[in-house]
Amino acid sequence: MLSAKNITKKFSGVTALDNVSLDLQSGKVNAIIGENGAGKSTLMKILSGVYTDYEGTIELDNQAAKFTGTRAAQEQGIAIIHQELNLIPNLTVTENIFLGREITNRFGLLDKAAMRQKTQVLLDTLRLDIDPSVSIKDLKVGQQQLVEIAKALLLDAKVIIMDEPTSAITGAEVDTLFDIIADLKKTGKAIAYISHKLDELFKIAETYTVLRDGKSIESGNMEEVTKDMLVSKMVGRDLVISKKSTLSPSGRDASTVSNDILLKVDNLTLSKFNQNINFSLKKGEILGIFGLMGAGRTELFEALFGLNGTTKIEVENTPLSIKSPADAVKAGLALVSEDRKKDGIIPELSVKKNISLTTLLDLSRNGILSPSKENDLAQKYISDLKIKTPSDAQLIKNLSGGNQQKAIIAKWLATKPKILLLDEPTRGIDINAKSEIYKLMQELAESGLGIIMVSSELPEILAVSDRILVLSEGKLTGDFDINEATEESLLKAAIA
Ligand SMILES: Nc1ncnc2c1ncn2[C@@H]1O[C@H](COP(=O)(O)OP(=O)(O)OP(=O)(O)O)[C@@H](O)[C@H]1O
Ligand SMILES: [Mg+2]
Repeated sequence: MLSAKNITKKFSGVTALDNVSLDLQSGKVNAIIGENGAGKSTLMKILSGVYTDYEGTIELDNQAAKFTGTRAAQEQGIAIIHQELNLIPNLTVTENIFLGREITNRFGLLDKAAMRQKTQVLLDTLRLDIDPSVSIKDLKVGQQQLVEIAKALLLDAKVIIMDEPTSAITGAEVDTLFDIIADLKKTGKAIAYISHKLDELFKIAETYTVLRDGKSIESGNMEEVTKDMLVSKMVGRDLVISKKSTLSPSGRDASTVSNDILLKVDNLTLSKFNQNINFSLKKGEILGIFGLMGAGRTELFEALFGLNGTTKIEVENTPLSIKSPADAVKAGLALVSEDRKKDGIIPELSVKKNISLTTLLDLSRNGILSPSKENDLAQKYISDLKIKTPSDAQLIKNLSGGNQQKAIIAKWLATKPKILLLDEPTRGIDINAKSEIYKLMQELAESGLGIIMVSSELPEILAVSDRILVLSEGKLTGDFDINEATEESLLKAAIA
């Protein structure tokens, strides 16, 4: 269906793609695999007309194709679900889905009823229970991701590109997406599918292509490879994926958890739910929070961080009223939010500035910023978290999705908080970099920090936590010591 040959793409100072070739076949899912910064999104942007300036050729249905822009690519049958969601926050779900391809009636006027109705059909297909006329900004990231998927489904495309479509959705939503993908396959669509969740690929993909440092390393049939084989092709060396080596590199034992209570939450009620939440966090503890989409995990963090009115908490036995994020930061809290486009990065600033943003005061003397301290800080995190960037002066918006996420984590780690709240911290991060982040979390915990991590990935939450709380509809339905928690027990509590 589509064949890209010898594609090379350079940005100033960076060769993102070097002679890459890729074939997509009708009725099949081709997985595109590679570490953060390998060139996956760049290749997909070329195939969908986002970048028009590149070397190499694209053939669509055996005919040379050259897209002059995204509109041209759409018209020729290419749909893309972008990794960084491309929705307009102040427009409604319907307006976003029909943006640039509005339905008009015979008088040339917008046919709002028709658009609303079609949107409803798409939302039903995705089993997404939201009102088509709600603004995108009022949706959670997971819901936004489903709207982005709905948008791509509206086009009757031949080729559908999905760049990390499941990074913000879990469980039932993922199953629904996979059902839809199975239907798309039956109707002969060619699908390119990017994901760092390798297990998914074995469920839905027929073929794979591995990219490494902008080069195509290998393509083949999924049937002929194992997860370990794929990972070693990705990183260019043997890397054994077993729970112990990848997920808990330092072999954490629960004894680093002290008896001192760091944070105490009593009778907290989340705005949408009418339930009392009570729990505490100890020094040196990593507390995992598991739950399905909509269970109230992000709301819990928002409440603790003073984003939803006043929250009463105790930090080191001192009762505090948190009325704003400023109060929260003063109390020693830091929040790495799940929505990196909205709360995470400042796109027009450098990687260095984005990392030092939260600690400018510490890096200054008498109000003057010490450039050498700022450089040291940036360099430390670029190397600790293996942030792939040509230099610390690169604008952060030019980094790959996973590398932006690493910079956000760095920015909050730099504040040396007492209590670190991490909402889906490893979303979009490759398997190798994940273990670096786990290692850092463990070091921080060992130095006396308390960490609360929300994660939808069961293996992850089981590997890094000392204790796991489960939320379901705004209520705590489980509290497991790590030794008694299993995937099954967590899931059971999550649907309770
Ligand atoms: N607009 C840009 N300007 C400069 N460099 C860029 C730009 N876009 C991408 N790059 C660089 O090109 C390389 C490939 O990035 P790309 O986004 O394609 O990676 P990716 O494989 O999608 O990674 P991830 O898994 O993190 O999403 C990276 O080194 C990135 O920093
Ligand atoms: Mg990407």
